[in-house]
Amino acid sequence: MSRGLARVVDEHRVIVSAGSGGVGKTTTAATIGLYGAQRGRRAVVLTIDPARRLADALGIGEIRGGEESRVEGDFAGSLTVMMLDQKSAWDALVRRHAPSAEVRDRVLGNRFYQHLSETFAGSQEYMALEQLCELHAGGRFDLIVVDTPPTRHALDFLEAPRRLADFLDRQVIKWFVKPYFAAGWSAMQVMNRTARFLLQRLEDATGISVLVEVSDFFNSMSGLFDGFQERVQRTYQLLQAKETAFVLVASPEEQVLSEAEYFCRKMGELRMPLRAVVFNRAHFECGAELTRADGERLVRGLVEAAEAERLLANFERYEVLAGGDAVRMEDFRSRLPRRVVTAEVPNFDSDLHDIDGLRRMHPFLFP
Ligand SMILES: Nc1ncnc2c1ncn2[C@@H]1O[C@H](COP(=O)(O)OP(=O)(O)OP(=O)(O)O)[C@@H](O)[C@H]1O
Ligand SMILES: [Mg+2]
Repeated sequence: MSRGLARVVDEHRVIVSAGSGGVGKTTTAATIGLYGAQRGRRAVVLTIDPARRLADALGIGEIRGGEESRVEGDFAGSLTVMMLDQKSAWDALVRRHAPSAEVRDRVLGNRFYQHLSETFAGSQEYMALEQLCELHAGGRFDLIVVDTPPTRHALDFLEAPRRLADFLDRQVIKWFVKPYFAAGWSAMQVMNRTARFLLQRLEDATGISVLVEVSDFFNSMSGLFDGFQERVQRTYQLLQAKETAFVLVASPEEQVLSEAEYFCRKMGELRMPLRAVVFNRAHFECGAELTRADGERLVRGLVEAAEAERLLANFERYEVLAGGDAVRMEDFRSRLPRRVVTAEVPNFDSDLHDIDGLRRMHPFLFP
C-alpha cells in the first residue's frame, strides 16, 4: 500500500507537506527530504519552523532565519535545509525587488514596514510560496519539500497568500499613496469617515504615526507591489502544476480527520494535486486473534496475578484505541479519490527529534 508514497516522491519535483497544527508535518517533510537525498536527488526542505524542530531533527545547530544549511550524511544525493522566518523573508523580498539601494534602506528602516513584516497575518505563508518559486526557478535542487507553517487550520496555508495579495492590491495602495497622507491628520478632513476610522485603528494597533510612514512605505515600494498579484498567481500555478504533489498529514483522531476531510474537498475545488495522505501517530491493532484466555496463558507465571491483570487490561484498552483508529482511517480512506495513496505511521514511544528518529519513521513511509 504505502509503496505508493515512494512513487509519489520519485515522480514529483515539489512536495508540500500540509495538515493541521502539530500532526507531524515537519517530521514528515524531513523524512521525505532524507529519502530523496538517499535516492540521489539534490533535495531541499524549506521550512518555517519557529520551534526549530526540523533543524534539531537534522542535527543542524545554528541556523538563522533566511539561511540554508547542508545536512551531513552519507547520501547518494544531498540534503539542504532552508529556514525561513517571517521577518527575514520579508527583508529578502525587499532586497530582491527594491529599485535602488537607497529605497531598500529607507524601506527596511521604515517603522510601518517593520511592524508589517513582524506581525502581518498570512505573510509567512506568502513568503514560503515566494521562496518556493525562487528555489524552483533557481534549478539548484531537483526535489523541493515544503514544510507548511503551523497554522490553526491547514487551509490557511493556501488562502493566506491570496488574502495578503488582496490587501496589497493595487487599488488599496494607490489609496495610500495619495499625497495628502503624507501631510498628516490636518489634511484628513477631506477624507471620508470610514477611511479616517480605519487609519485611526491602524494607529492604535501599531502605535506608529501611520499616516506618514505608511505613505512613505507604499510610495517607496510601489514598484514591488506592482507585480504582487501576478506573483501570487504564479505561485498558485506552481502549486497546481503536474510536478507538484501535496502530502496531507493527519492523525487518526476525529477532529483532525474532519479538518483533513475539509482540506481534501477544498483542494479539489482549488484544483491542487493531493497525492498522498499520511496517517501519523496511529495505534496499530495486534492483528493476532487473541482471546483473553490466550493472554492469561501467555503471562501466567511471568508476573504476579495482579500485575498480569493490569497488563491484560492495558492491552485490551490499547486494542480498543487501535480498533477506533483503524475504523476512522478506513472510513477516511474509502472516501479518498482512487489515485491518492496512503501510509500509516505508528505513534512511537518518544518524539522524533533527531536523524535516528526520522529513520524510525522512514520504513513506514517508504517500506
Ligand atoms: N509518529 C510519531 N510518534 C511519536 N512522536 C511523533 C510522531 N510524529 C511526530 N512526532 C513528534 O510530535 C511533535 C510534533 O511533530 P511535528 O513538529 O512534525 O508536527 P508539525 O505538524 O510540524 O507541528 P506544527 O504544526 O507545530 O509545525 C514532534 O515533537 C515530533 O517529534
Ligand atoms: Mg512544523
